[in-house]
Amino acid sequence: MKKALVSIALVTSLTLSSVGVQAFAQPSATSQSGIHNVLDNRVINQINVDNIYNNIDYLQQTPRVAASEEEYQAVLYIKDQFESYGYEAEIQPFEFFGFTAPHTVELSVGETSLTPNSFTYTASGEVTAELVDAGLGREGDLAGVELDGKIALIQRGEISFGDKVLNAARAGARGVIIYNNAPGTLNGTLGGANDEFVPAVSLSQAEGQALATQLADGESLTASLTVLGAESGLRTSHNVIASKKPTNKNKDNGNVIVLSSHHDSVPGAPGANDNASGTAMVLELARAMKNLPTDTEIRFTTFGAEELGLIGSRHYVNELPDSELNRIVANFNLDMVGSRDAGDLVMRTVNGQPNLVTELAQASSYRLNGAPTPFNQGGSSDHVPFGEKGIPAALFIHSPLEPWYHTPEDTIDKISKEKLQDVAQIVSTAIYDYASFDNMGAKPKKAKPQSVDAQMYFEEDVQ
Ligand code: BES
Ligand code: ZN
Repeated sequence: MKKALVSIALVTSLTLSSVGVQAFAQPSATSQSGIHNVLDNRVINQINVDNIYNNIDYLQQTPRVAASEEEYQAVLYIKDQFESYGYEAEIQPFEFFGFTAPHTVELSVGETSLTPNSFTYTASGEVTAELVDAGLGREGDLAGVELDGKIALIQRGEISFGDKVLNAARAGARGVIIYNNAPGTLNGTLGGANDEFVPAVSLSQAEGQALATQLADGESLTASLTVLGAESGLRTSHNVIASKKPTNKNKDNGNVIVLSSHHDSVPGAPGANDNASGTAMVLELARAMKNLPTDTEIRFTTFGAEELGLIGSRHYVNELPDSELNRIVANFNLDMVGSRDAGDLVMRTVNGQPNLVTELAQASSYRLNGAPTPFNQGGSSDHVPFGEKGIPAALFIHSPLEPWYHTPEDTIDKISKEKLQDVAQIVSTAIYDYASFDNMGAKPKKAKPQSVDAQMYFEEDVQ
């Protein structure tokens, strides 16, 4: 699907402000001459893209799965970096219910070794027993089938994998094999941990159907099923938080901007772009902005367990009392901001509407590049818990995604310094536009369209 820029003329009382109108009259001249103001230059001059690149390189040496030792080492590194810039950094632990995938998954029937996958939340165990066809594994399918002490062979479909395993286990089965009902491998989840589960693996349609046919022909089959290392239970992951307090206590406007990323990755993925890139950019912007005069608190955060369902960022917003939540005026969330193989920079908001973050970033991208960064609804990332609390929030990401997303190929060699530089400039100047001390009193600290007040740009799917 192609993306198109659509502009909508907005009539606002500021439409005739001189900067906005002039800028729109000659956008190409603006982009070529790179007209941006003194405040922009003050922050841009502090940014060193090599620092971002080098921190990505460091973090992407290994996957950083939530609650793993590798994730914790990344957390300590991030804290260390913040401290080396002169910040106090807090590590915020949180617990969640997790699952560790098995290290060994094997299945043989008779003399034949098969190629099983395990189900998320399977139990561990070693079972050798007679194989019995249990249809679709519904309670009705099991009536009249002797499963006690046996391994159940069940076809995918009609009810959940978890219910199939529970039904078989309650009928006495000591292991379960679920085979696909369509071509392709089956990688499933039992939905959540349950003490009643027995070792459960999946097979392809071809392998499963062949076994079902042999059983239907009256053959007696003995299966050996091995699942070792699977473990469900409470896990601990961590967020890292460093705060730049307003320069002058007397002129503190009481507002907070949160700049965020997630530092965890999916299993097997070094996560150079997803999301060492966002994390390294949060670090560099913390360093670059450390000594700039500001009247707004800027909170630099990296969240854990995003890949398991935004768990760290949810924990962070849920822990804040209303009085603290109400102080947060904006969340800029960086996730996948440096891939050479991804498309252009876009923003995503929870409700698809513009907000303070999109307005500040459209204004800064327009000042810097002559084109406002478009926005659209969506993006499952850490801006969502903020947006759901009514806080203006946006995800910064390149679209379309690169082919390496969530793969072992998400490595440093695919990272573009140009992409990093562009996002770092747009985001930091947007934040500084709001937080800069210089403008104290001269502008209302509310949502306020700036040099792009005549137009809003958003992204729309076109055929
Ligand atoms: N880095 C991605 C963000 C993302 C946003 C990817 C939009 C693709 C489109 C993030 O880490 C991610 O992979 N999120 C998960 C969902 C999450 C709640 C587990 C996803 O989008 O599948
Ligand atoms: Zn991500």
